[in-house]
Amino acid sequence: MEPAAAPAATADRQLKVLIPRDRIQERVRELGLEIRRDYEDRTLCLIGILKGAFVFMSDLARSIPGAVRIDFMGISSYGKGKTSSGEVKVTKDLDMSLEGMDVLIVEDIVDTGVTLTYLAHVLQQRRPRSIQIAALLDKPSRRMRPVQVKYVGFTIADRFVVGAGLDAGEEYRNLPDVCTLEE
Ligand code: IMP
Ligand code: MG
Repeated sequence: MEPAAAPAATADRQLKVLIPRDRIQERVRELGLEIRRDYEDRTLCLIGILKGAFVFMSDLARSIPGAVRIDFMGISSYGKGKTSSGEVKVTKDLDMSLEGMDVLIVEDIVDTGVTLTYLAHVLQQRRPRSIQIAALLDKPSRRMRPVQVKYVGFTIADRFVVGAGLDAGEEYRNLPDVCTLEE
């Protein structure tokens, strides 16, 4: 088998580091401790949104001391472009029940807010004790739906970014730094 090609910038695509890996690690560690303080000794259900949240989920889960449960949900917004089309569907549902649980949705980035508005609505119907959102990145300038993101890693300007789980056409998710991708 051929080795997987490392993602690389091509002539028409420029990668630039926006948030280096050590700043991400430091910030995620802070968030983990803040989250544990807020929930005291209660068990938290972390719900990672596939696929983009897999890196942040892995780092965040290990930064939260104490009892944590992990599950993932697959969501797809119709259309493969860089912007959400407004329609969302569940492609992989949770394995665990959320009834009476403290739920923390773990997302890579909140952009228009369409995905999370839909998801919070779906999960609310499962009668959790509470629902909050943690996102590695927040792009508030593009918001179309009001979303309360309680735990934000970094607030960024309206730039298209990749790395730390975020992709462009399924590439770049493995970059350790958050990078801007400009064409
Ligand atoms: P929203 O519904 O517009 O908030 O969409 C959020 C989703 O869009 C994220 O979970 C990402 O999958 C994707 N997305 C938004 N902005 C970016 C970006 O800058 N880079 C990569 N994916 C992004
Ligand atoms: Mg996503």
